Amino acid sequence: MVLPDTHVGYIGDTPTYSLGAWDIAMQALAHRAERLTHLVFLGDFGNWESCSHWASLRAEQCFIEEDVALVNARLAEVEAIAAANGIQVVFCEGNHEAWAGQMEAKYPMLRDTINLRRRLLFKERGWTWVPENHFWAIGDAHFTHGHLRGVKGPRDMVRITGASVIYGHTHRYRTESSRNLTGEHAAWELGCLASFDPPPPYAKGALPDQWVHGFGFVQVRSNGRFQVSFRRVIDEAWTELEDGTELRVRPKAVARRYAEDQAIRDRLRAEYGERFYHPGGQVVRTEPHHGKVSKRGEVSPVARTRRARIVRTLPGSQ
Ligand SMILES: [Fe+2]
Ligand SMILES: [Fe+2]
Repeated sequence: MVLPDTHVGYIGDTPTYSLGAWDIAMQALAHRAERLTHLVFLGDFGNWESCSHWASLRAEQCFIEEDVALVNARLAEVEAIAAANGIQVVFCEGNHEAWAGQMEAKYPMLRDTINLRRRLLFKERGWTWVPENHFWAIGDAHFTHGHLRGVKGPRDMVRITGASVIYGHTHRYRTESSRNLTGEHAAWELGCLASFDPPPPYAKGALPDQWVHGFGFVQVRSNGRFQVSFRRVIDEAWTELEDGTELRVRPKAVARRYAEDQAIRDRLRAEYGERFYHPGGQVVRTEPHHGKVSKRGEVSPVARTRRARIVRTLPGSQ
């Protein structure tokens, strides 16, 4: 089974993952668990707002501990099913996970504090970590996150790798194949489980109109040839597996996970204090000095823009 970009996390109080689509993915995992050998995460499993270099010091940016705890809670859910059924778990690092590495490179003293592979207990869980832009392969099928230079779609992926690749990153569902002297190769983008209503800030203003919820199953034969199937999750509420099983979202399970997430966030906020620049906090505001006033009572615009004074200060700052 293949789980694409989930973007677990919150921006303010808005979840960045689809709790409905996640519930259906977990039902599908439990339903097929006995027949599965591997579970592959395609990356961006967490949204990692805390490590985002796009969101640096934005009002809603949360603490790293919050992201780590939320992601670990969802991974524990997967682990319970995977461990009970002997499913091997492979985790491709996405560009959102790679933000943590970039933060460590910028602030080396944080190296052991952030280290996601360690904080997400990969050693203890016995899971495989595939670094960003690396590939994990079984038979002829290659898996990666897909944040590769020059790759704008499946055709580019086949052209650049010369192999068959299943990847995420774009949050779309697309596939293309191409035959050449080395045989037939195809690439698949397997959608996402991320929330796209409202559009998240990492979409950087682009309309996520082609994003689609879903997950995949890959059957690999002993000669390496394989079959991919994508199961779309419609309206964050239902899907149907190939065996005809209909899966519907369980509102109680969604509410339980949401409450669990809020409990994690409340506990950590109590421990680490409120977020930076909480809307209820003090504001430093500047106001222009009045410049020279003419005889007619007009204020010189140059003086207005060049000089300012602080009219209100944070308590304790002089
Ligand atoms: Fe993503
Ligand atoms: Fe990505």
